[in-house]
Amino acid sequence: MNFKRHTVTAALPYANGPVHIGHLAGCYLPADIYVRYLRSKGEDVKFICGSDEHGVPITIKAKKEGVTPQQVVDKYNKIMGDAFKEFGVSFDIYSRTSSPTHHATASEFFKTLYDKGVFQEEVTEQYFDEKANQFLADRYIIGTCPKCANENAYGDQCEKCGTSLNPTDLINPRSTLSGEKPVLKKTKNWFLPLDKMQPQIEAFIESHKDWKTNVYGQCKSWLNAGLQPRAMTRDLDWGVKVPVDGADGKVLYVWFDAPIGYISATKDLTPDWAKYWKDKETKLVHFIGKDNIVFHCIIFPAMLMAEGSYILPENVPANEFLNLEGDKISTSRNWAVWLHEYLLEFKDKQDVLRYTLCANAPESKDNDFTWKDFQAKNNNELVAILGNFVNRTLVLTHKYYGGKVPEAAEYTKSDVLLLEEISKYPSKIAASIEQYRFREALSELMNLARLGNKYLADNEPWTLIKTDEKRVQTIMNLSLQISANLAVLMEPFLPFTSKKLGEMLNLNPAFRWNDATRTDLLLTGHQINAAALLFDKIEDAAIDAQIQKLADSKKMNEAQNKTVEPAKAETSFDDFSKMDIRVGTILEAERVPKTEKLLKLKIDTGIDQRTVVSGIAEYYKPEDIIGQQVSILVNLAPRKIKGIESQGMILMAENNAGELSFVAPTKSNMNNGGGIR
Ligand code: 2FM
Ligand code: ZN
Repeated sequence: MNFKRHTVTAALPYANGPVHIGHLAGCYLPADIYVRYLRSKGEDVKFICGSDEHGVPITIKAKKEGVTPQQVVDKYNKIMGDAFKEFGVSFDIYSRTSSPTHHATASEFFKTLYDKGVFQEEVTEQYFDEKANQFLADRYIIGTCPKCANENAYGDQCEKCGTSLNPTDLINPRSTLSGEKPVLKKTKNWFLPLDKMQPQIEAFIESHKDWKTNVYGQCKSWLNAGLQPRAMTRDLDWGVKVPVDGADGKVLYVWFDAPIGYISATKDLTPDWAKYWKDKETKLVHFIGKDNIVFHCIIFPAMLMAEGSYILPENVPANEFLNLEGDKISTSRNWAVWLHEYLLEFKDKQDVLRYTLCANAPESKDNDFTWKDFQAKNNNELVAILGNFVNRTLVLTHKYYGGKVPEAAEYTKSDVLLLEEISKYPSKIAASIEQYRFREALSELMNLARLGNKYLADNEPWTLIKTDEKRVQTIMNLSLQISANLAVLMEPFLPFTSKKLGEMLNLNPAFRWNDATRTDLLLTGHQINAAALLFDKIEDAAIDAQIQKLADSKKMNEAQNKTVEPAKAETSFDDFSKMDIRVGTILEAERVPKTEKLLKLKIDTGIDQRTVVSGIAEYYKPEDIIGQQVSILVNLAPRKIKGIESQGMILMAENNAGELSFVAPTKSNMNNGGGIR
């Protein structure tokens, strides 16, 4: 079916942290490429996003930072919106679910289902924290995982073994709010009867066997397991209030309200919003990451079906996850490349990241981002293929023709073949994009640049200029046309570079996708502007610095996670203060005969001179420590060691490797003979 218009959504990210490369690669970049392509095709499209500002991750973050949830979402809504903009993600609107439009829309949607009698009211037992006086959402409960004994499993999932859990599965559950053991308490909630809706949902999924295998497969596995009723309300105070009587202290389940956020954002964008959501001639496509599949393919469509007046998604091209240097991206472990930090190091290189992430997109399996690969993609592909072709073309045009497009004389056989080849690219790339195969599409785009490079290399205009000026005109004209076509076709992928190249070519900005089938975008005599490099080489030092930064993160994490067990039982302050510790100076030192470890020392304590036997012969030679200052416990009861009365104890400290060294005063606190307390 041909559609009149398109509604394209990208998952509303939780407004509880900045944006990293995993976000970009997972859904915002493919969505942006798709939408830019549609716009270039002249399609009517609305690209919708915004932040997801409800849900427990937000309230947990607020608690941690000691601020209100509203403060958290205000801060990150701006940070995230700005980051997307800087990377050229061209939403028509970046809205937010704390907006009044959204509250009204979500509330009304719920009320419609409620009035239609869609929901099942059920009283269930939920964990309640008596000290904090509130019901506990799954993430507010931790306890021991029944599967792997991890003591810090969450109420909905054990992050160690990956098992999905219910809060009541946890052994020794405790509230993260108060640390108390929660009690089970009855509460009423409204459930969407997915079990009863299964046949409808199944028919919907079955009508979309064309979906990506990872998406279709996950849906089938949910359906095979049998859908269960799912609560659409929660006992929480942050969210959209449940708009019915008897629902005080309850809000809509975040996964009920968030996808409705797409609709409310469209309302904020245009008074014409309904045709983007209710007209069957609109193609609705949701771009998401794989953890959102069930919500977009089953639960949200079920809500839309139950409401009755909305269209359903035509496709949900979900990506898998992007890892970083072989490890899962993690905010809490700071194992991420943050977009705002990237720009500090790689100013104006948004397209290099867009290119790398698209070329490496986790389209059908998890994939890895590495800095070395980023460097290689920049240096060996963007610089060496695309940049090199365009630069040679522009520089030679300036050199031979003062920047004026030369007239193509006669085409040779190979020129005719080339022209034919060029004109196929727009439909080739389009076919890949329309099937959500963005890696393939990008690789085709690069093939066009390769074609250009090969054409120059085969024809060597720089040699030919001495013998056949006429032929060179044709070669340069064709190379310029390829550059112009590249500028148009690269726009969805590399919008910043496309603009730069368009300006260098002085290209009519009105050219769109279908114009790139032509090979006369630049007319004879058209004046181009000065040439500048599209990309420049990234040196090892810049990459090494990024790798070092990650290594530092890892080290920091390991240090933080290392729990140092106290070696000995706790001691009281009173006991500790009984000790009289002084700084002494070693006057004499000798080995105690027939022992490995013992030295006999004579020490000036400032109050007297005394003999101490100390087990430090492994670490110090007697001759090296004469004159050394040490800390000495002077009121330890004397005791005989190997027949020698030891009148005190030298204080030693142990390092990580278990080696001992003197606890010696440094220059700044030196106080000969005085007591250190
Ligand atoms: O996973 C997430 O980040 C969710 N906030 C996505 C929501 S998508 C949509 F439903 F709003
Ligand atoms: Zn577990």
